[in-house]
Amino acid sequence: MAPRLPRIGDLDVNNRRVFVRVDFNVPLNDDGTIRDDTRIRAALPTISALRSQGARLVLASHLGRPKGTFDPKYSLEPVAVRLAELLECEVRLPDEVVGDGVTKLVLDNRAGQIVLLENLRFHPGETSNDPAFAQALASLCDAYVNDAFGASHRAHASIVGIPGLVREHAAGELLAREIDALARVIAAAEHPFVAIVGGAKVSDKLPVLLAVLDRLRPGDALIIGGAMANTFLASTGSELGRSLLETDRFSDCRSVATKAEARRVRLVLPSDLRIGEGLDATESSVVPAFEAQLPTSAMALDIGPVSARNFAETIAGAALVFWNGPMGLFENPVFAGGTLAVAEAVARCSGYTVVGGGDSVAALQASGMADQVDHISTGGGASLELIEGKALPGIKALLQT
Ligand code: 3PG
Repeated sequence: MAPRLPRIGDLDVNNRRVFVRVDFNVPLNDDGTIRDDTRIRAALPTISALRSQGARLVLASHLGRPKGTFDPKYSLEPVAVRLAELLECEVRLPDEVVGDGVTKLVLDNRAGQIVLLENLRFHPGETSNDPAFAQALASLCDAYVNDAFGASHRAHASIVGIPGLVREHAAGELLAREIDALARVIAAAEHPFVAIVGGAKVSDKLPVLLAVLDRLRPGDALIIGGAMANTFLASTGSELGRSLLETDRFSDCRSVATKAEARRVRLVLPSDLRIGEGLDATESSVVPAFEAQLPTSAMALDIGPVSARNFAETIAGAALVFWNGPMGLFENPVFAGGTLAVAEAVARCSGYTVVGGGDSVAALQASGMADQVDHISTGGGASLELIEGKALPGIKALLQT
């Protein structure tokens, strides 16, 4: 039997300092404001549960990828402001990650109050899992909670270092919910199972394609969209002009197709493509995908309308759906249609639906139907690694006694 993940209900938190690793790595606009606060909202159940039990909270997160040094662009200040609004309470943000000032603030923190440390990646010890940095963070708390599902595939100090040092540790509500939802995809007990994988590169998604195929049965479907589909189409002879594709991955595409055929799984590729003259194109046209002969200046930037209908019909009949990755250049409205059509189809599907990855989630939100999806994962890379069958370092660390 798999070992049981400790939960926050197992911890004694009343009037104790509880360190909660959250994933507040939110997308920012150019002016530094928050574009989407989903990840902050997703951590609220854990924060509220711990506050109501009298915990003295120390929250910590990374934001972006500053290289171990202070960079005002990546300060958690806008996050602290948003969190304070959502919780309707004061959130104190020291101007450093660790140090005497931080220790004093944390010691002064009373039950129900919140200190949010500055961006963990302002310190070089975070990504290198430096033992001294992990010890400095551990010394701020009596108990540790990991609610940062999106960062649990990183063996960083705040993810694996602290739980190795703080005996009382547990998974937060969000982390537990993510694991439960993705376990249903991994178990693949419901059929027809339709997996939809999009995005730019076959090289990035090959492990997940192969892992998903291992779980699909005859009658299930693997839908492929995005620039990845260009590589599949080019591997069968389509001439795709200037389209993004990986010529060194044709044999991987053939292996995926062969494996799908052997398992009698439908490999669904776009049958038509929306093309344009470049990433900023304001006009488009539609061409057939198979044996395509695109002009040398053209790029395939979205699936076409026939493919969108075909994908939607396949999704409609599913008992279980997992979707990760856009169908095209979603950020340009001319090429957003395919991704939006898939978002709508997933939302309308009556089976159990799980969506992960920034662009897929943004498309769902743009469709206004996000609340009709069973689970929206806050972790792109982390959810893919789980589905690939990897043990996430952050989860392994919580299972240590
Ligand atoms: C994410 O956005 O996927 C997580 O916050 C992890 O961020 P990272 O890829 O910079 O580690």
